[in-house]
Amino acid sequence: MQCKHFPLANHSAISKQLKQCSELHNKTSFHTDSRDSSGEGWCYNRRRTIEIAPIDIFSFLRGLLFQESSAPRDSSSAHTPAANEFFIRYTAGFSWGAGSSAYQTEGAWDKDGKGLSIWDVFSHKKGKIQQNDTGDSSCEGYHKVKDDVSLMKELKLNHYRFSISWPRLIPTGIKSDHINEKGIQYYDGLIDQLLESKITPVVTLYHWDLPQVLQEKYGGWQNISLVNHFNEFANLCFERFGNRVKYWMTFNNPWSVAVEGYETGEHAPGLRLRGTGAYRAAHHIIKAHAKVWHTYDTQWRAKQKGLVGISLSGDWGEPVDMSNQKDIEAAERYVQFYLGWFATPIFHGDYPQVMKDFIGRKSVQQGLGTSRLPTFSTQEKSYIKGTCDFLGIGHFTTRYITQKNNPSGRSSSSSYFTDRDLAELVDPRWPDPGSEWLYSVPWGFRRLLNFVKIQYGNPMIYVTENGVSEKMLCTELCDDWRIQYYKDYINEMLKAIKDGVNVKGYTAWSLLDKFEWDEGYSERFGLYYVDFRNKNKPRYPKASVQFYKRVISSNGFPNQREVENWRRKAIETCSSSNQLLAAEEQRSTAANILRLIHDPLTSHMEMVTEIVVPTVCTLSILLSAVFLMFLLRRRN
Ligand code: BGC
Repeated sequence: MQCKHFPLANHSAISKQLKQCSELHNKTSFHTDSRDSSGEGWCYNRRRTIEIAPIDIFSFLRGLLFQESSAPRDSSSAHTPAANEFFIRYTAGFSWGAGSSAYQTEGAWDKDGKGLSIWDVFSHKKGKIQQNDTGDSSCEGYHKVKDDVSLMKELKLNHYRFSISWPRLIPTGIKSDHINEKGIQYYDGLIDQLLESKITPVVTLYHWDLPQVLQEKYGGWQNISLVNHFNEFANLCFERFGNRVKYWMTFNNPWSVAVEGYETGEHAPGLRLRGTGAYRAAHHIIKAHAKVWHTYDTQWRAKQKGLVGISLSGDWGEPVDMSNQKDIEAAERYVQFYLGWFATPIFHGDYPQVMKDFIGRKSVQQGLGTSRLPTFSTQEKSYIKGTCDFLGIGHFTTRYITQKNNPSGRSSSSSYFTDRDLAELVDPRWPDPGSEWLYSVPWGFRRLLNFVKIQYGNPMIYVTENGVSEKMLCTELCDDWRIQYYKDYINEMLKAIKDGVNVKGYTAWSLLDKFEWDEGYSERFGLYYVDFRNKNKPRYPKASVQFYKRVISSNGFPNQREVENWRRKAIETCSSSNQLLAAEEQRSTAANILRLIHDPLTSHMEMVTEIVVPTVCTLSILLSAVFLMFLLRRRN
């Protein structure tokens, strides 16, 4: 089958409009991000000046980063020597890994006593997920621990990041109800096999699969009672696995949980509580995180000597017009409403001032007595502040940001998105091989890492998610664009380390192709390709496996020529596996077609043997008996 990239659905009209705009300005064109709720097209005359009146952190960052490369914002310069300069290998102790999460890979959704999660229920509702896919079997990771650990060994991973399914351990989510020992055994097995293979387990406690009972009973993260239930679940994990697991993350990407779960409803539990739901969910999540950190600190740390952090996601936001103070402030607001929403309370004890100001002001204008953004008491602030032994950063992409006033209107029309007073834009020249929202903008990664360093006192950072997807109609193991993405993003991370950012590890996202939430299986992030049409879910290495393997064994990039060689060799070796897989897929497609053709025939045969033959036989016997009786009577 011919491989094709899917066209991006909503681009054409907006791009046309922006093309006109750019022709008008005879400058760079932009189009709006598909996630931009404004739905309007925007264009700007982007000027690349770096002489801007210094304003707090953004100007500082700009100054710092522009010293090294004069135009890192320009996508056309993404492959210039300046942008591509490799830094020598990283020091010993840096950890290279790959990641996954429970619902996205395990499958076995109703096996061995597991309870339902909100994602089991959500994905079974028609129309919520692309093609109505579900994670019911996904990669069958639950049954393939040994196979998957072999893949990790093949990659020579230093660590593997996975999450624990709360309803697999505690089916109702409430510890006093029941603990599922089979679930414990599963994770025991996984952890032991990792350790036997010298791979460090890095464990996330919550990667979005809340027990359904907690959703039904309490309304999920809208309810404060979840703080205690989550703490009990975490405590159980520390008790049973903490002798072997030393790196814990309470939550993965709470931004998505709050915004997509409770504001837009694109994710489970699918609620649309605009303007309030996300803020309330986030408030409880932050409290739950802090409580779990304190539990570990007071009850387990001395004995187990591990670390507890959180994995936050954040796109970088770059001002559209660097000479425009309003754009600079809007870009900072974008980052503060994203990463800062969670990081600022955890590092500084309270929400970012800009969130308090904007949401507070709009709430007043909407005639509300109090801000839609909840508040922490003084006691809570000091309890939450400092609850992070390391910060996990998940990062995939960047946006250009410009100021855009959203009238406050009625409170019913408020939303997280309009509260920010900004518009998100993307440069159409940025590569976008897969997910609609994912543009490859490597320089944004370095800026985000520097932002974290400056804002939160240079914390210890583990990159917990970074990678790119593809949206292919057919098999494609020669993922040149993924190699390019990893090369450029890892390079920017190495530059950030040189800037003094305290990055201790990097996690490629993800080990396998897997269930991509509302996108189902239509987007593939894996280093390994998974054939989802085959019920055994076989895995095949993509070219990026060969590339990443070399990065790991060299502990970074030795020099540009060598890295180019790695890329070339990786691409050379993938074409034979590509052919093998394509042949295998053709075979299984043919087998499926034959099965479909055979099916009516088989059921026909079954009907003949199971119903027609016995009936005919019985009737014949009866008829013969009647005939015999008739003959005997006549003879008498
Ligand atoms: C999520 C992952 C997901 C990735 C790509 C991340 O924010 O944590 O589970 O696979 O986005 O969609």
